[in-house]
Amino acid sequence: MNVIHVSAECYPIAKVGGLGDVVGSLPKYQQQAGVGARVVMPFYDNKFTAAHKFESVYESELVLGENNFSYRILKLKKEVLDIDVLFVDIPELLFKDYVYSADDTARFTAFQIAVMDWMLTLKTKPSIIHCHDHHTGLIPFMAQECFKYESLNKIPNILTIHNAQYQGWFAHDKVHYLPAFDISNIGLLDWDGVINPLAAGIKCAWRVTTVSPSYMEELQQAANGLESLLSHENQKCVGILNGIDADVWNPETDEFITKNYSAKNIQTGKTANKKRLCKEFGFSASKPLFAFIGRLVLEKGADLLPEVFDEILSKKECNILVLGSGDPEVEDSLKALKKKHKGVYNTFIGYDEKLSHLIYAGADFLLMPSRVEPCGLNQLYSLRYGTIPVVRSIGGLKDTVIDVEDGGFGFSHQDASGDNILQTLNRAIAFYNDKPEFKKTRKHIMSIDHSWNVSAQKYIDLYNSLKSD
Ligand code: ADP
Ligand code: GLC
Repeated sequence: MNVIHVSAECYPIAKVGGLGDVVGSLPKYQQQAGVGARVVMPFYDNKFTAAHKFESVYESELVLGENNFSYRILKLKKEVLDIDVLFVDIPELLFKDYVYSADDTARFTAFQIAVMDWMLTLKTKPSIIHCHDHHTGLIPFMAQECFKYESLNKIPNILTIHNAQYQGWFAHDKVHYLPAFDISNIGLLDWDGVINPLAAGIKCAWRVTTVSPSYMEELQQAANGLESLLSHENQKCVGILNGIDADVWNPETDEFITKNYSAKNIQTGKTANKKRLCKEFGFSASKPLFAFIGRLVLEKGADLLPEVFDEILSKKECNILVLGSGDPEVEDSLKALKKKHKGVYNTFIGYDEKLSHLIYAGADFLLMPSRVEPCGLNQLYSLRYGTIPVVRSIGGLKDTVIDVEDGGFGFSHQDASGDNILQTLNRAIAFYNDKPEFKKTRKHIMSIDHSWNVSAQKYIDLYNSLKSD
């Protein structure tokens, strides 16, 4: 079996969020399990592509509406990654210093057409096409409906929904971007009067997965307009929990942290990393350190944080550190707290992969008050680094964090509300002060295995079930 993952992101080449982490690690674990797995992604103008040499393995032209674009399929000259990655280079459209932007319709439609055109030319076709999110949602439609891709329609495809908030909507006047198909089937592309690539993918894919079981259940209730579609397609839907790359996220070997550690020397390891963080951000290391890492958007509940922080910090019982960027208003409110709560609060607005590792290692608790969380990887990284998660019980957070009051190892609350977060923070502070329990718990969480070993096999079982369809 050989699977090809089609994605807009893949760590360490291009990562905006968890999608990059997943596509950068799942194929590696699939390979270890004996399945050929590759990734095909856009060729962006970024640090990774500037630092490496590529060779062209295929060149052609694609048609996007009235325009023709030259494109190449590139591959790295040297094996520098654990996985095989191919790149679609459309210089005029994709080679930008960003991943997503306002002109995504043209960019990602062209990307998908290039992938399909190129796959037509392959002597050995992939045995499974695995699409990720709406940027690749048109592929199952094109395979099923576009005349020129008829021969690809025999290859089973699956669509994984990492985030149904974004669906890639575009107006009907751009439908001519797609290669010819029977226009009487336009309904497969349409949802609520607009072209909806995620909906088209759900309708046409052989199987649809979400990145946690609870997220699938939630989407069938409320999915930004797609709930009835997902309920209707229930037969082909399944939730498979994400895993993590336990080589990249390993406190024993992590090169980004101050002191490496395992569960055996967790006390000295975490203390050294915490001291370093506290020094850098002006805190005293004796108080519990809470951290938030992530996109500062409504989905993540980031707008609730400034008020909660203002209140809890006035008691001076804990330190709080924020790493993230997003909604400018939330960024401003979080920055504004710095002056008032100097010495117990700090924030780094921006994206910093290295700092994120140090925070997972040095913090005592990680906050995730998400309104929506399809899976969430931060809580899985924090478990591996012995940092206790404090989360809202939703989506993948519900599937991975059990509250200490229910015999578990973390803190969870029901509502995305300031009051709920505040109560939970207070519970966590009291827990920190109960040193034996706190130490026992953080040692325990380091041993929970969330590596891809289990879930990679679940995808392989799913692929196998499709071969006989
Ligand atoms: P999402 O994909 O919805 O943003 P996930 O929890 O799946 O959420 O994944 C987020 C990933 O992005 C994690 O690897 C997290 O460490 C990383 N991340 C988010 N914001 C930042 C940031 N500002 N700096 C560094 N890493 C970040
Ligand atoms: C999305 C989701 C996040 C998930 C990630 C990887 O970005 O918001 O919850 O962990 O995809 O699947």
